[in-house]
Amino acid sequence: MSLSKDANWWRQAAVYQIYPRSFKDSNGDGIGDLKGITSQVPYLKSLSLDAVWLSPFYPSALADGGYDVDDYRNVDPKLGTLEDFDEMLAALHEAGIRVFVDIVPNHSSNLHQWFIDALNSEPGSPERARYIFRDGKGKDGELPPSDWPSHFAPSAWTRITEKDGKPGQWYCHLFAPEQPDLNWDNPEVEADFIKTLRFWADRGVDGFRVDVAHAMKKDLSEPLRSQPTLGYENPRLDGKGVFFDRAELFDVYREWRKVFNEYDPPRVAVAEANVPIERMPLYASDKTLGQAFNFAFLDAKFDPSDYRDTVKKSLEIADKNHSSSTWVLSNHDKIRHATRYGLHPIVDEKKWLLADGKTHPLDREAGTRAALAATMFILALPGCTYMYQGEELGLHEVTDIPHDQIQDPAYAGNLYTEKGRDGCRVPLPWASTGSSYGFGSGGSHLPQPTWFAETNVEKQDGKEGSPLEIYRKALALRKKLQGEELLMWHETKNKEVLHFSRPGGWNCMINFRGYSHKFEAKEILHSSAPISDFTLPAGTTVWFKV
Ligand code: NOJ
Ligand code: CA
Repeated sequence: MSLSKDANWWRQAAVYQIYPRSFKDSNGDGIGDLKGITSQVPYLKSLSLDAVWLSPFYPSALADGGYDVDDYRNVDPKLGTLEDFDEMLAALHEAGIRVFVDIVPNHSSNLHQWFIDALNSEPGSPERARYIFRDGKGKDGELPPSDWPSHFAPSAWTRITEKDGKPGQWYCHLFAPEQPDLNWDNPEVEADFIKTLRFWADRGVDGFRVDVAHAMKKDLSEPLRSQPTLGYENPRLDGKGVFFDRAELFDVYREWRKVFNEYDPPRVAVAEANVPIERMPLYASDKTLGQAFNFAFLDAKFDPSDYRDTVKKSLEIADKNHSSSTWVLSNHDKIRHATRYGLHPIVDEKKWLLADGKTHPLDREAGTRAALAATMFILALPGCTYMYQGEELGLHEVTDIPHDQIQDPAYAGNLYTEKGRDGCRVPLPWASTGSSYGFGSGGSHLPQPTWFAETNVEKQDGKEGSPLEIYRKALALRKKLQGEELLMWHETKNKEVLHFSRPGGWNCMINFRGYSHKFEAKEILHSSAPISDFTLPAGTTVWFKV
């Protein structure tokens, strides 16, 4: 199959996120790899995907699951080689599936050659100027240069030991200490990322997911401004914050856009920008990255007014910048949506996870059911849907990973106040038996739960009504039904039921927690759970024609 030259292929795409280390292991070392992905191209094809997005597979010591990159233009030897990458890309393209790779521009790893060089050089040297080094405050420079916090540590500053063995300068890291922030005021940094974009685009990569796209440009003028919290709760809207969402970012992205447009079809990008929805158009404009993740559904409750408001606002915003909206229910940073929806809405999910899921009951069945309904709802919306590996099996979060096996730096870095994100990163169950439930012939780098024996690809493949088959049918149908990016709401006279339609007569109706709801239809196309007599039970979505 050859890929079309359609420059707009991304606008309403179905994209599947692969977390490479946990997808499929081809050589039994317990770590998923690129050959593993290639071996599962038929599986990915069976999901009628338009694209996959690969989380980082670059050389990395895994201080942050690969978001600590040692070398942006290579493959981690644990995961394969550049030849394996080319082979995987060709197989995916052959199957009609495009590929996004992850670009991590805010920080490298501490094992990147540049950082090693910086440590081996003098304060004030060009090597140090690629990162954000500063002298400390206090009598002997023993205090951090500013009050900036980190996501994975109390302070964003770590002090180094200079070559003479004495305590020396400090460097900035908005994430783990192993993730030093690059200095984006340095033209060398900007040029190197252009090189990286071209490196992957020349190999045939179709798109880029841009990690923490809101953080690279910082106000580095002296004295450094005070910013004692990350400030997500109280964001600024004027583009003049200390380290997030600054106006200068868009100069960088305008340059990137020029590079994307050198290709045919133009390469595309999606920003991971944790900014207020009003600011998203700046990232998602056709002059900058083109698209931005809309994370509203990661936080929305399974609730009709939350859903309706989220959709309305998102579509309005996307419209303003000629982008299309994106929809995301799960990713590698968030408790899986089946689990979120299986908990009572008042439960604080992060605290619950920290207590290994023991403080409140999880209704697994209700959670999976609501998750499938939610997925079918967002798949019917105009725009692009990003799905996360394993959600097509209705997978729940793994809650019982022993605390001494947690890999996520958020756990220790935040002083054990959260358990972190490993519970959604456990290697996938492909089979009911075997040392790693078909993930590979060996073990698994994170412990898998025994309930994988019941919930896996082998059990669900070809079984009518299984989550996998519900996804497959929904995604195949969506491809056929997808038309103009328009949506019309319909009154249901039932506050628990939402109903909208798309051009061509594609109707979608969801019943959240209400009594069974009668509806009229000529033809039922698909539903997230069995329905009869044109009656929609709670926790169910139906697609139909009238
Ligand atoms: C966002 C990524 O999704 C997350 O996994 C990572 O920890 C941070 N960025 C830092 O790179
Ligand atoms: Ca492997």
